[in-house]
Amino acid sequence: MSQICQRSLLSVNRLAPAALRCKSSWFTEVQMGPPDAILGVTEAFKKDTNPKKINLGAGAYRDDNTKPYVLPSVREAEKRLISRALDKEYSTIIGIPEFYNKAIELALGPSSQRLKAKHNATVQTISGTGALRVGAAFLSKFWKGNREVYLPSPSWGNHVPIFEHSGLSVKRYRYYNAEHCNLDFNGMIEDLKKIPESSIVLLHACAHNPTGVDPSHEQWREISKVVKDRKLYPFIDMAYQGFATGDVDNDAFAVRIFEADGHDFCLAQSFAKNMGLYGERAGAYTVICSDQEEAARVMSQIKILIRALYSNPPIHGARLAAEILNNDDLRSQWLKDVKVMADRIIDVRGKLKANLEKLGSSQNWNHIVDQIGMFCFTGLKPEQVDKLTKEHSVYLTRDGRVSMAGVTSKNVDYLAESIHAVTK
Ligand SMILES: Cc1ncc(COP(=O)(O)O)c(C=O)c1O
Repeated sequence: MSQICQRSLLSVNRLAPAALRCKSSWFTEVQMGPPDAILGVTEAFKKDTNPKKINLGAGAYRDDNTKPYVLPSVREAEKRLISRALDKEYSTIIGIPEFYNKAIELALGPSSQRLKAKHNATVQTISGTGALRVGAAFLSKFWKGNREVYLPSPSWGNHVPIFEHSGLSVKRYRYYNAEHCNLDFNGMIEDLKKIPESSIVLLHACAHNPTGVDPSHEQWREISKVVKDRKLYPFIDMAYQGFATGDVDNDAFAVRIFEADGHDFCLAQSFAKNMGLYGERAGAYTVICSDQEEAARVMSQIKILIRALYSNPPIHGARLAAEILNNDDLRSQWLKDVKVMADRIIDVRGKLKANLEKLGSSQNWNHIVDQIGMFCFTGLKPEQVDKLTKEHSVYLTRDGRVSMAGVTSKNVDYLAESIHAVTK
């Protein structure tokens, strides 16, 4: 008799026929989980037959024809890799050095003192999510301070499960001012000052997801100072370097301020958005340590964690990124490609705002152009979002977040008309 049958015979339902009891399994108590909010939006979009339908749910760049975009620099890097007929052997546990060394240099800049002093423990990860998850696992095992991670309110939806899966608890600090669709800077500073010493504080380096609201350079300086004074541990998530302003150095300002101010911090990086390597899963996780010796110890423990989690990372995306970052011609092509993407988004932001004003909307839409990066937190209420979807076939999450990547010169008029119709 199978193990499952034996178990079901011992179960409470002793009067059921034997055949039925044998159908019982180990997982009868598993409840159906809720579908992913963003994937749900895409599913509903696919079923809609309206030719004017627009999908503003998914956070992936689209060209002006709403088609996925493979960067010219990536196409060229791929050609060069294929011409070399490389093998498919495992990488090391921490990935490909030509990738992860250049990744952290891209974040901190070529003149970083901490990199020169080798204070960094940097590993290749399974994109940005993997970097956050490895970081969460590391902190869960070794963090000796307050085991709470403070996230901005709101934050990327996956931050909570990533930290909770690793056994850390999650709390919030104020970030977004819903009334004015901008940064609640005073609320943020007030809350940061109240966080218990030696807690972990998660910061979005640029292009905050989901609000598109970033602190100014001056505000970052103050945030860094408060985080230092409160003895908080900064965990910086940089998933959009280059994607916000089109300039990779400008977008790394926050990270570089934290280095300049002498913080020890950790950093998650993704190459999904800025290189369009979504499915290739290229990312990096870095712990900036107090010295080289500490970095070596930290690295040894991260290796042990990765070995048990997934053994070693995928190679193709990291090879592509390494090819781009290590060759001057490809690198300068890539910097142009990033700017093309960022500029297209900035352009449609301007068009959307201008169209709403032309239609006579009495609302203030300045935040559409003030916010930055992939997302715009429109301020639309859930009922307005429902109406937009039902009556105009415009799909987005109920929090009013719009992926600007889905807006094009061809659909921006219809989008503005639809938003105006549900907000007047
Ligand atoms: C804030 C933030 N962090 C991390 C990620 C991780 O993305 P990926 O795992 O695709 O690199 C995302 C992706 O949307 C994000 O928005």
